[in-house]
Amino acid sequence: MRLSTIFRVKKLVFGAFLVFFVLKWAVVPLYSAMKRNMCQSVHNVLFLKTHKTGSSSVSNIFFRFSKSRGLTVALPRKQIYSFYWPWSFQANFVDNLPEEKPNILCSHARYNQTTMQSFMPPGTNFVTILRHPLSRFESAFLFEDFPAFLGIPASANPFQHFFEHFEKFKHDINSMYTLRNGMSFDLGLEPDDFEDATAIRNFISSVENDFHLVLLMEYFDESLVMLKQHFCWTLEDVLYLKHNSRLRSSKKHHIPRQFGNKFLDRNKADVLLYEHFNQTFWRKVKSQYDNFWSEVRLLKQKSHAMAKECLLPGEHKDERRKNIATKLILNPRVGHDMEHLCRELVKDEGGYLTYFRDIQLRER
Ligand SMILES: *[C@@H]1O[C@H](CO)[C@@H](O)[C@H](O)[C@H]1NC(C)=O
Ligand SMILES: *[C@@H]1O[C@H](CO)[C@@H](O)[C@H](O)[C@H]1NC(C)=O
Repeated sequence: MRLSTIFRVKKLVFGAFLVFFVLKWAVVPLYSAMKRNMCQSVHNVLFLKTHKTGSSSVSNIFFRFSKSRGLTVALPRKQIYSFYWPWSFQANFVDNLPEEKPNILCSHARYNQTTMQSFMPPGTNFVTILRHPLSRFESAFLFEDFPAFLGIPASANPFQHFFEHFEKFKHDINSMYTLRNGMSFDLGLEPDDFEDATAIRNFISSVENDFHLVLLMEYFDESLVMLKQHFCWTLEDVLYLKHNSRLRSSKKHHIPRQFGNKFLDRNKADVLLYEHFNQTFWRKVKSQYDNFWSEVRLLKQKSHAMAKECLLPGEHKDERRKNIATKLILNPRVGHDMEHLCRELVKDEGGYLTYFRDIQLRER
């Protein structure tokens, strides 16, 4: 009697272990793999393109995705390249206002929660990108050629000169919205609120509520793998080249240390915004699936390989912004099998806007 009970218990325990291992090693992984494969790829995205944050490289991803899936894109008026930034976004800023709601909006615009949410289809994913405020400022200041505009001597470190004579320039730069809390401004914070701690706090929580993903330029590959995962896209969808970057020669000057605090103090909103989303970013990274880091490595490798494959080597000046910006040029010797993807990766915003404008005009 007793012995048979022991056997029965043994059998039960053995059975329980068996079930446990089958579940752990076979069913659960199969289920998560299935869930990953069964996810529905996201087609409706508003990308709030902030200034000097790597956002042109992200826009290329959205344009490419739209083209390959035949999606509709909201277009700015011809020759303008933005939805009348710095005005707060309104539906009538959109060219050839489509009858059906567009899938994608990814050109420069200033965020307006009300008008943007009613303009896009319900359930649209809102995405934006941030960059550390200090390096973002350096980039914006030099990229827009503010030193020449402000009459800063070319031989000086423009940042040193700017901060040493700050009182003199203060008035001139009041309406240069990329130079003070530039990202917060793009995301809708009013300059009147730049010194208002409560308004800034409320602003940050509204960004947190409205945006499904906040990418960070410093962690570009990690951001894109997160986006790919969240949107159920492929790794190829998020391959990228670096668009619209500055010439190496314009990267030699930085904000001198002694002005760091002065800068941070004047840009509190951006500093708090960046700190907040850097924290939430790393919390999200921690909860990513197992092969997150191997996909990050793969994306890095593949994007690097595409740059080698697609680009004419060397640095090429963008003729429209001679001393500042670089331009990507397709390598004329690109392999036949890679040519299509390379052309798409290299195409700039102007090229894509023309492409989508032609399609919309044809369909009218
Ligand atoms: C957003 O758009 C609405 C509707 O046109 C407008 O009333 C509102 O002032 C705009 N918001 C901002 C912050 O400009
Ligand atoms: C972002 O946060 C991480 C983790 O807290 C920190 O190590 C890193 O320095 C921060 N990055 C930037 C660019 O501030």
